[in-house]
Amino acid sequence: MSAPKRRTTIHDFRAMKERGQRITMVTCYDFPTARITDDIGFPAVLVGDSLGMVVHGFDSTLRVTLDMMIHHSAAVARGAKQAMIVIDLPFATYSASDLHLSLSTARRAMQEGGAQAVKVEGGRRMAPVVGALVASGIPVMGHIGLTPQSIHMIGGYRVQGRSEEAASRLIAAAQALEKAGAFAVVLELVPAPLATQISSMLSIPTIGIGAGPGCDGQIQVFHDIMGLYEDFLPKHAKRYATVADTIRAALRQYHADVVSGTFPGPEHTFEQ
Ligand code: KIV
Repeated sequence: MSAPKRRTTIHDFRAMKERGQRITMVTCYDFPTARITDDIGFPAVLVGDSLGMVVHGFDSTLRVTLDMMIHHSAAVARGAKQAMIVIDLPFATYSASDLHLSLSTARRAMQEGGAQAVKVEGGRRMAPVVGALVASGIPVMGHIGLTPQSIHMIGGYRVQGRSEEAASRLIAAAQALEKAGAFAVVLELVPAPLATQISSMLSIPTIGIGAGPGCDGQIQVFHDIMGLYEDFLPKHAKRYATVADTIRAALRQYHADVVSGTFPGPEHTFEQ
């Protein structure tokens, strides 16, 4: 009998970086998808607050609440038994000026959402939050570059760190997050050479999205790569399937079968 597989830990993340083994992550918001990603062997999944846009139809992540995150994360936790589940702390539920709030948010995310780690957006200003959570035994993934929760401060979904000054700020942010105890850091919409440079400077893994191949791992939004969110395909996303088309064709057929009376057939029907 083979030994049961165990859940990925933050130590595995670091070991993967040391071995040069690329880390694959995908967002996950529900039970069936969690089961499939676990079957395939993804080391970690992110219950991202992108669910506000791709599952709930909001125009940004700002309306996502902690209760919504917990609701989705608990479903993922019922399906993913080996992947480390990382949960996004949503907009305005954590802050360096309110570490009690930050801790209480992370506590609920872990206890009620069944996650093993949390993700927070922000650079140097977030270091005290990362430090406080890590000191309470909560693994933290950082997230710098394009941070969608600050979209109204940034002014749009655009590549970050292009100027020399902005690049230096991103490098300092990554180093501050590592120093504060983050076990990994997401680099979103960062020029590839800068992301490669940051990855080589850190001993924790970088997980890129729109940050080129030089990161230690990659993450993508499930609905983007599956062709399930059709409003917009970001340049950094590759479509691996056209699931919306498959669903559309299947539903069209079901609708036609009911209208024509060919469904349900005798094989779907119970006799007296
Ligand atoms: O919410 C999310 O899906 C994310 C990824 C884009 C990293 O934060």
